[in-house]
Amino acid sequence: MLSYRHGYHAGNYADVLKHTLLLQTLQLMHKKDKPLVYIDTHAGAGGYALTDEFAQKTGEYLEGVAKLWDKPDLPKSLQDYVEAVRHFNEDNPQALEFYPGSPAIVDMELGPKDRMVLHELHSSDHLLLEDYFRGDKQVKVIKGDGLKGLIATVPPLERRALVLVDPSYEIKTDYQDVAETLIKAHKRFATGVFMLWYPVVNRAQTEGMLSRLANSGIKRQLRIEQAISPDSTEFGMTAAGLWVINPPWQLDDIALELTDYLAKALGQAGGSVTVKWEVGE
Ligand SMILES: C[S@@+](CC[C@H](N)C(=O)[O-])C[C@H]1O[C@@H](n2cnc3c(N)ncnc32)[C@H](O)[C@@H]1O
Repeated sequence: MLSYRHGYHAGNYADVLKHTLLLQTLQLMHKKDKPLVYIDTHAGAGGYALTDEFAQKTGEYLEGVAKLWDKPDLPKSLQDYVEAVRHFNEDNPQALEFYPGSPAIVDMELGPKDRMVLHELHSSDHLLLEDYFRGDKQVKVIKGDGLKGLIATVPPLERRALVLVDPSYEIKTDYQDVAETLIKAHKRFATGVFMLWYPVVNRAQTEGMLSRLANSGIKRQLRIEQAISPDSTEFGMTAAGLWVINPPWQLDDIALELTDYLAKALGQAGGSVTVKWEVGE
């Protein structure tokens, strides 16, 4: 039984990094005028009301997107991100009341010949996601396991894809399953752009998954991580990152500028940021 609901965490510092990089990756891929498919293995509900009981209970967005809302000096990547969130609040663009999840962010950037395949396992969030995209012919919403769904979807007909793997890591075997699935998916579709989101709650567990990928023989693997505080043995997430296989050209430079800004805007004492090619060409 799944208990994770992204509504508690929507717009937190981890979402800021993830959704900003997602948007930038898509924009870079769109420099080539060829259709692509966006595959989201763990799509969530689509969008979130920050005024509801979930977001209000944790207030996590106050330490994330809300801190960037009125900043005049944002780098372009964060300007694009804040603009996308404002667009989602278009009835009242000055207010921060709604937050777009990954499918809604991508939807704003989707080209006329692109398509999306979205997986969500939680019954309530799957229903919300289905409602969100009802009638949209470019979008397929699947209720099922996203890791199995990824293997079934690649290679796509377009031969161009951005894959977001964004699990809730509720089950201990998730870390291992995610690494093995990515290796298998890459074997079937070596030119895909794969973005894996990961938390650091237990550093050894996270690095176990990441080193399996780094040692898999797959080339071009980039780590982009923000630790808001030092690693800790206490319960709680101290860092979050994106591990990108085949990042488009210039994503590393964008990530450097972005994380430098985020370290100052959202980091705490002892926090740090990392942008590092863990495996090169
Ligand atoms: C971190 S949230 C996704 C957030 C979303 N990608 C975003 O950025 O807005 C993870 C989601 O995965 C769902 N989930 C958990 N296990 C899953 C599985 N095996 N297959 C598909 N979805 C799953 C959860 O219900 C949750 O909605």
